[in-house]
Amino acid sequence: MLELNKIHCLDCLEELPKIEDNSIDCIITDPPYFIGFNSSAKEGGRQDYGNFTMLKPLFSILFKEFERILKPDGRVFMFTDWRTYPIVNICASEFMRVSNLIVWDYGWIKAGTQFRFTHEFIVHATMHKAKSPKDRAMSDVWRIKPINFTTKRNHPAEKPVEIIRRMLKECTEEGDLILDCFMGSGTTAIACKQLNRNFLGFEINQRYIDTYNSRLEQDNLTKFEMSNEQELLGNYKSKNSPDSNFNEFPSSSNNKKEQREKVNEE
Ligand SMILES: C[S@@+](CC[C@H](N)C(=O)[O-])C[C@H]1O[C@@H](n2cnc3c(N)ncnc32)[C@H](O)[C@@H]1O
Repeated sequence: MLELNKIHCLDCLEELPKIEDNSIDCIITDPPYFIGFNSSAKEGGRQDYGNFTMLKPLFSILFKEFERILKPDGRVFMFTDWRTYPIVNICASEFMRVSNLIVWDYGWIKAGTQFRFTHEFIVHATMHKAKSPKDRAMSDVWRIKPINFTTKRNHPAEKPVEIIRRMLKECTEEGDLILDCFMGSGTTAIACKQLNRNFLGFEINQRYIDTYNSRLEQDNLTKFEMSNEQELLGNYKSKNSPDSNFNEFPSSSNNKKEQREKVNEE
């Protein structure tokens, strides 16, 4: 097995087959959504949905390997969106039980020219001996503030550490081994370090591993995030109770440009 608690600059499709059977407690991963990958939308053309042809083989390979390397009580949390979800669901169901489609509610309006995006999906697929989450009353709609893309981000598709911490706290124990095969800027790794879980990580782009290393150096920030989590989530919850109106990103022309870019990146 490769060194743990490190992000390896390797192609996960080549590395997954080398991982031992029944060795991983939980997989938390955020593959590229692919839709719009070769989009000509920027030049005024239509989005290219041709990439669907590569999605099914890709997700089939991933879930086949996931089922092999997970322990019998293991599980997968995989971020996806409404366009890719049908394929993820079909491929995951071939090998595991798809237990939930968690709706990550941003509580915040994002870019879009029709109805505005306020959510992403997280597929929760479980092995046959997976236990229930610790909070038996937790619903499948999670309202957690996304990374504000009008400020500097670590990755174009960076996920908030809080959402990964929730998965870890609810469904894993200290010392467990977590796999993220599409690490990006290392959000899963940071959450694992904060909560004393071990991790195995792959990221194909060295630039994002460099970003992860500089995130680690900002140790004070990590401690700040940890100690203020309850307060941050508490404030956020009260400002964004189901009765209150959603906040909207500021809409200067620059921000609109960033919003369009964000949609294209995703
Ligand atoms: C959606 S991003 C993950 C973002 C991450 N959740 C974060 O918070 O920074 C997906 C990442 O997968 C990486 N990737 C794509 N194909 C890969 C492969 N075959 N092996 C490893 N990493 C890959 C991309 O470079 C990209 O950084």
